[in-house]
Amino acid sequence: MGFRLLKRCLSGLCKLQNTHDICIPNPYILAFHHSSMQSLEHIIDERIKSFPVTTETGKLMMFLEKIKEKHKPTYLHSLRVGMKCMDAASLLEYNEKEMFDAGLLHDVGKLAVPVELLKKTNFTKEDHKAMDIHPVYSYHILLNELPLTAEVALRHHRYESKKKPYPQKLPAVRRDMDLTKICAYARLLSVIDCYDAMTTRHDNHQLEGHNYRDALMAERKGMEGLIERLFEAKILA
Ligand SMILES: [Fe+2]
Ligand SMILES: [Fe+2]
Repeated sequence: MGFRLLKRCLSGLCKLQNTHDICIPNPYILAFHHSSMQSLEHIIDERIKSFPVTTETGKLMMFLEKIKEKHKPTYLHSLRVGMKCMDAASLLEYNEKEMFDAGLLHDVGKLAVPVELLKKTNFTKEDHKAMDIHPVYSYHILLNELPLTAEVALRHHRYESKKKPYPQKLPAVRRDMDLTKICAYARLLSVIDCYDAMTTRHDNHQLEGHNYRDALMAERKGMEGLIERLFEAKILA
């Protein structure tokens, strides 16, 4: 990515300890069918540059680099989700930068999940348990650096129709933060995250040739209007 320049800026910024030993999980495949990694990185790079550069920019880039080092499929997933979150924010008149950041970093907690788990496609009960902690890890990793992103990331798996929402218990939100906004962002992120998983995972053979709109509505009950709007605007297709 044109991340080289940023990488240099980042070299003194918040260093995660032993990130080579931390991992990101899962079966997001190297999905090159929509865009190659380079073109996707170029788009993200341009978008990052379109916002004022702050210390938060450096932190965001550092986390993305760590994800890339650790597990490329999760990295590509994060870039695609970030891009679509920003497009959706523009449509819904949400803050584009806030939604972009949330999309890019929602799975940063996967940095703290064992590497073997990242590569697995068939999960045991125990594997699911270990994986399901990742929103909590995301929250803790981001809380001091990007508190809004942390709150949104914490909730991105709480809107699933076919699974118990997780994490079940949530810490109190800081008084100066807007819970309604956090939940609206998390709902939107949850839809886009699910769509990306559906359209890129190798293990989703059952969806080939099927209607993603209907499948997504089944996975995210109560969000039909939102999903419809995203498809109409061709943010999802
Ligand atoms: Fe996730
Ligand atoms: Fe995700």
